[in-house]
Amino acid sequence: MKKRLLSGLLAAAMAATLLMGCGSKSAEVAGAQRETNGKVGVAMPTKDLQRWNQDGANMEEQLKAAGYDVDLQYASNDIATQVSQIENMISSGAQVLVIASIDGDSLGTVLAQAKEAGIKVIAYDRLIMNSDAVSYYATFDNYMVGTKQGEYIKEQLDLDNAAGPFNIEIFTGDPGDNNARFFYGGAIDVLKPYIESGKLVVQSGQVEFDNVATANWSTENAQSRMDAIISANYANGTKLDAVLCSNDSTALGVTNSLEANYTGEWPIITGQDCDVANVKNMIAGKQSMSIFKDTRTLAAKTVEMVDAIMKGTEAPVNDTKTYDNGTGVIPSFLCEPVFADVNNYKELLIDSGYYKEDDLK
Ligand code: BGC
Repeated sequence: MKKRLLSGLLAAAMAATLLMGCGSKSAEVAGAQRETNGKVGVAMPTKDLQRWNQDGANMEEQLKAAGYDVDLQYASNDIATQVSQIENMISSGAQVLVIASIDGDSLGTVLAQAKEAGIKVIAYDRLIMNSDAVSYYATFDNYMVGTKQGEYIKEQLDLDNAAGPFNIEIFTGDPGDNNARFFYGGAIDVLKPYIESGKLVVQSGQVEFDNVATANWSTENAQSRMDAIISANYANGTKLDAVLCSNDSTALGVTNSLEANYTGEWPIITGQDCDVANVKNMIAGKQSMSIFKDTRTLAAKTVEMVDAIMKGTEAPVNDTKTYDNGTGVIPSFLCEPVFADVNNYKELLIDSGYYKEDDLK
């Protein structure tokens, strides 16, 4: 990430913290010689995707402003690295762990150690599966993300009225990320009736989750799968009307492939995260929409959870039904995802201070 962009994002995170009214007391505390309120370990999956850099920066800023010491680590999407980073956080005295897991199912053993040591765990953005050490889950409404993407395609193609049939292809995320199933589920619940009635046709035949998943959410993997789909199904002039992409990294791969291999009318392409490259593509007409998940809000909610845990009070939650991690339902706070496209991105992303206009040039 460019330094300029990162420092802009940091400034935005600070401004948002103050705006949200949860930073003023802490800013005073941070300015004075203070005792620490405790130590929080923050484990992020990778620096490769823009959003996790923002998440990490926001969490670090907001936790520090609230008087906590922060140990922020990125694991290059490597599960073993993430496990050993968490082990280090445990042994170096963290009292709360905030974890965006790489693979939701791989942290059971290390989190059993955390529980043994009396350390509380908050699952950040992605649910940690099959561990009873998880106290809370802070995320966006992941099913709603998928619903909004599916509804967008339904409306743009006017599926209830237009004769069709329309051709669609589907790209979702990493099978080890519980979110991917929610994004896919939300979208497919909207689109499935039209696939079943034949109004939407998936020429590749790849519809089920396992066939449309993208390992590591990787742009390259999405791109090479799209290359293969185009050459097998759309190289003869067949029109592709829409590509459901669960997020921006997969949308980028699909867009790159279409630019290189597809000569027909440009399809509808969905996304999620409002990454800079994708917002630029929206402005250029190459991606139709994205879902904006304001990482500043998620960080602020998570800091409230940390505070509650440290003070021994109940953390704020608004969902106690949806997210069963295999050991029971984890009390969750679901932030609301917002629709973004070329018409509202300025208001959502620039006026709110999330990006500077120059970042998008
Ligand atoms: C997040 C998405 C992100 C994806 C890839 C998901 O768990 O919720 O915002 O695009 O991971 O990093």
